[in-house]
Amino acid sequence: MDRVWEAELRLPTPLVELRDPLFGTCRVLLKRDDLIHPDVPGNKWRKLKYLVRDARDRGADTLLTFGGARSNHVRAVAALGERLGFRTVGVIRGEERPTNPGLRRAQERGMTLHYLDRATYRRKSDPDVLAALHDRFGGAYVVPEGGTTPLAFPGLAELVNEFDRPYDAVVCAVGTGGTLAGIAAALPAGRRAIGISVLRGAWSLDAEVAALHRSVLGHPLDNWTIDHRFHCGGFARRDARLDTFLARFGDRHGWAPDPVYVGKALLGLSVLTGAGEFDGETVVAIVSGPGAG
Ligand SMILES: Cc1ncc(COP(=O)(O)O)c(C=O)c1O
Repeated sequence: MDRVWEAELRLPTPLVELRDPLFGTCRVLLKRDDLIHPDVPGNKWRKLKYLVRDARDRGADTLLTFGGARSNHVRAVAALGERLGFRTVGVIRGEERPTNPGLRRAQERGMTLHYLDRATYRRKSDPDVLAALHDRFGGAYVVPEGGTTPLAFPGLAELVNEFDRPYDAVVCAVGTGGTLAGIAAALPAGRRAIGISVLRGAWSLDAEVAALHRSVLGHPLDNWTIDHRFHCGGFARRDARLDTFLARFGDRHGWAPDPVYVGKALLGLSVLTGAGEFDGETVVAIVSGPGAG
């Protein structure tokens, strides 16, 4: 991988104690993965590192990926493509050709945007839809939505291996489940991972994480759970409880996590600690990056 690029990455990321009475007797260590790189922060780099390496090993010159109009992942792929010498194609959900600063920035980085109506987008992994994309954009290397593939696992293992203090559990936000799956797979014995789903009623996530474990490890794991209670209304929605939590957090700490992912994970952690879930334990909370926007 390009040495100049890798030298720009802030790795390992800091693991810093969060002193806040809100978390009771639980000691919270924030893993500041948001600081890895402004354009490819947090779980984006962790999940894409080995995918991009694989694309290069296979001689691909184009990365093609998928996302909503506000996808952090699409922006990160555009930035990586520009820096590492790949053409990039972003297949964006929605026929109305939305644009916003994030998509404009992706285009400035050389990404070709291609819009798919919602019905076709839902079928984006079907052979006919993929074949049409390959016809149009050449034999591009396909990076699935969110970058969740078995190739995300080694990057997430590197994240876990950076934890250099004793801990009992890890808490992270869950979108597609790839980050949680990779973290759980890398945890040493006796530690557990708790994912906070940012989606409303996304019960299928549990089966998807288990399926990832079966495909990568050959067996399921019992060291993780997903808590579905802190979606705050659904993806990218917010409610009064989240707003109050983030405002208080910002007043106390001088910065606030994003409301889309990390804010919900930390809100969940605070409620769980309030219920005595982590009494006397040390929890690593993953600041997986800035939110969509
Ligand atoms: C900042 C941030 N945190 C967490 C997640 C959730 O990760 P995953 O989709 O692997 O569950 C995402 C989604 O891409 C994200 O952008």
